[in-house]
This record gives sequence, C-alpha cells and structure tokens, in this order.
Amino acid sequence: MTERVLLVTGASRGIGAATARRAVAAGFRVGLVARNAGSVGPLAAELGEGQALPLAADVADWPSISGAVEAVLARFGRLDAVFANAGIGMGVSFFGDGGAEPERWRELVLTNVYGAALTARATLPALAASGGHLVLTGSVAGRYPRKGSLYSATKWAVSGMAAGIREEAVGTGVRVTLVQPGITDTGILTEEQRRKPKLEADDVARAVLYALEQPPTVDVNEIMVRPTGQVL
Ligand SMILES: NC(=O)c1ccc[n+]([C@@H]2O[C@H](COP(=O)([O-])OP(=O)(O)OC[C@H]3O[C@@H](n4cnc5c(N)ncnc54)[C@H](OP(=O)(O)O)[C@@H]3O)[C@@H](O)[C@H]2O)c1
Repeated sequence: MTERVLLVTGASRGIGAATARRAVAAGFRVGLVARNAGSVGPLAAELGEGQALPLAADVADWPSISGAVEAVLARFGRLDAVFANAGIGMGVSFFGDGGAEPERWRELVLTNVYGAALTARATLPALAASGGHLVLTGSVAGRYPRKGSLYSATKWAVSGMAAGIREEAVGTGVRVTLVQPGITDTGILTEEQRRKPKLEADDVARAVLYALEQPPTVDVNEIMVRPTGQVL
C-alpha cells in the first residue's frame, strides 16, 4: 500500500469528501480542510485516525491555509498531492436584477479564486520536493459562458490559473490537473439545478483518482465530466 499523502480542501462534504473517501481506499493518507474542524471531524473519524487529519482553515486566509499545510507536513512528513477544491456558489445579476448584494460578491471571488491561488502557493514548494500533483476544481462553467454569472467568471479564473501554474511547473516534476465537473448533486446546487441531470459527487471523485493514479510521466491536464444529457 502506498504511503502517499493528499491534502483536500473543501473536504467536509460534496466532491471533496467523496474524493477523500476514494483516496483513502486507494491507499492515501489525507489532510481534510474545511473552515470548521467540527465539520471534517466525523469524516476523519470514519476514515481512521491514522489515515486522516481534520484541519480547520479558510482557504482565503494565508496564515490559515499555510498553517494547515504545515500541520499536514508535521503530521505525515510529506505531501504528494493536493486537491484545491473548496468553493462556494452564489447567484448574481450584473444588472441588479436579483441575486446576492454586491457586498457579498467579495466572498465568492475570495473563496473561489484567491483561495485556490493561496492553496497552490502554500503547497507547491512541498509538491516540488515530492514531485507531486496539484488538482484544481474548475467547472463546466469555467469553460462555457454563463449568463450573468460571477461564479462562472471565478471558474474561468481557475482554468487560467491551472494553465499558468502548469507552465511555471515545467522542470519541477509537478503535475497540474484541472477537473471541470458538470452539475453534481451537492449542497452547492440551486433548486433549478436540482431539477436537471446530475452527477454524484463520487463520479467526480473517480475522475480525480484517475488523474492521481497515473505514473509520474503522465500529466492529465484537464478532465471535463458532465452528467449525460446536461445542456451546455
Ligand atoms: N456541485 C456542482 O455542481 C459543481 C460543479 C462544478 C464545480 N463545482 C465545484 O466543486 C467544488 C466543491 O463543491 P461541492 O459541489 O462539493 O459543494 P459543497 O458540498 O458545498 O462543498 C464545498 C466545500 O468547500 C468548503 N469551503 C467553502 N468555503 C471554504 C473556505 N473559505 N475555506 C475552506 N473550505 C471552504 C466547504 O466546507 P465548510 O463549509 O465546512 O467550510 C465544503 O467542504 C467547488 O469548488 C465548486 O465550485 C461544483
């Protein structure tokens, strides 16, 4: 069994939790990040104390996320892979036709863009040391335009970030994978999305593990996975 270590952000539920479960089944030890240690505690207990470390960290706060990475290194002594997955959704109208008030937009951008960037910055030195692998959660909404969607714009930013990191990683041995899920049945969905075809969180987790299980010479750049019948 491998001793590899994977850090998952947004691990308390949804795609992150499903991926942590798959990863432990595949032999990884995992660091589980969410804003509140209480929300990842039950999953850590389920996965086993020796295998999983629950960590409270806000990905959009540098001392918080860099401290979580230090805690993983202190506990497990290495970091082989990172799933930068924490994210939130929010309905927005640029014309002011409903949706969240502009003051709340900051949280969306900070979590989805700044948080992914800080997670990369906090982990890439350790990944360079291990010849490791960074996987980021983008979205189909980060590939195709979405009417009036600031969420979509944050995921376009993640798509660009993954490509830019991959270029900077040339020569380091670090691999970078962008996973772009379609509608997936998690707590992030709106009522309207719930009525559409949906993936299960585990469907996305299998895609992440596919990328992680490739040999070091194979860098899976992008995986888009959509529920059958989802309209672009
Ligand atoms: N579901 C979909 O249809 C879909 C499609 C494409 C892409 N995605 C993306 O997939 C990722 C996971 O979302 P999900 O669908 O699994 O939603 P979810 O069930 O709501 O999970 C979101 C996770 O992110 C964590 N989180 C949120 N803000 C955080 C912060 N500032 N710092 C640390 N952790 C934070 C949450 O934990 P706490 O609240 O406990 O902190 C939770 O574990 C997101 O990036 C999302 O944009 C989802």
